[in-house]
Amino acid sequence: MSAVVVSSVTKTFNPGRPDEVVALSDVDLTVGDGEFVSLIGPSGCGKSTLLRLIADLIAPTTGTVTVAGKPAGVARKEQAYGIAFQQSGLFEWRTVLRNVELPLELRGLAKAERKAKAEEMLALVGLEEFAGHYPAQLSGGMQQRVAIARALAVQPPLLLMDEPFGALDEMTRERLQSELLAICAKTGTSTVFVTHSISEAVFLSDRVVVMSARPGRITASIPVGLPTRDEAARQSEHYFESVTAVRQALRGTPLKSAS
Ligand SMILES: Nc1ncnc2c1ncn2[C@@H]1O[C@H](COP(=O)(O)OP(=O)(O)O)[C@@H](O)[C@H]1O
Ligand SMILES: [Mg+2]
Repeated sequence: MSAVVVSSVTKTFNPGRPDEVVALSDVDLTVGDGEFVSLIGPSGCGKSTLLRLIADLIAPTTGTVTVAGKPAGVARKEQAYGIAFQQSGLFEWRTVLRNVELPLELRGLAKAERKAKAEEMLALVGLEEFAGHYPAQLSGGMQQRVAIARALAVQPPLLLMDEPFGALDEMTRERLQSELLAICAKTGTSTVFVTHSISEAVFLSDRVVVMSARPGRITASIPVGLPTRDEAARQSEHYFESVTAVRQALRGTPLKSAS
């Protein structure tokens, strides 16, 4: 079964008003089970809107969204996905452990059970020693890892990420990219990942979906799937060819055009 099916979706904000915005027009997107798909496109092309539609944080104007075969609203209630955004969104007054426990509390897990699970998730992102710290005591990269641990705590089959590493320095970003891939591989999680970095999209993704602005539409779907995701992969022919293909698609010019 597909992790996500977005079918003929249009999203118009403020319909019928002077400030009406057609953020998405006629979008079709299918994300396979276990697939890692990145959404890339210019600022304002509707990447976050598409992600929020999948998360059922907003409703489509027309069309349908299903997650693991269920309407997006049902999937949200069943916590069928985890979300991580650019800002880690951690609660400052809760310790790291209690931040990760939050979705488990919402699920009604007993105290001991959710503590054990949260500790397991923190170990996964290499932060078990920081369980008792508060977010303000951690670096930006560590906060983002806590947010990922929290998103993964209920072991959702689907992870939705909106520029989660956007605010991080290049070294931290690359380390977290590798960690994320390892976690997804270990847990079989499907992922929809929004980024405006071509190199990040290519490195992470099985497939890069390119969007154009006004109104937001999908203009290309580029399979990547690097055979390995190590330092050598970032230097490989396959990598550079994929970066070029995505760049050309973003420019709206065909591959190997003269200009
Ligand atoms: N809640 C909203 N109300 C009105 N317009 C919105 C709202 N959210 C997004 N938009 C508009 O929809 C378009 C797409 O926005 P967004 O999905 O945030 O783009 P991206 O994430 O690709 O930068 C933009 O023109 C933006 O101004
Ligand atoms: Mg956005």
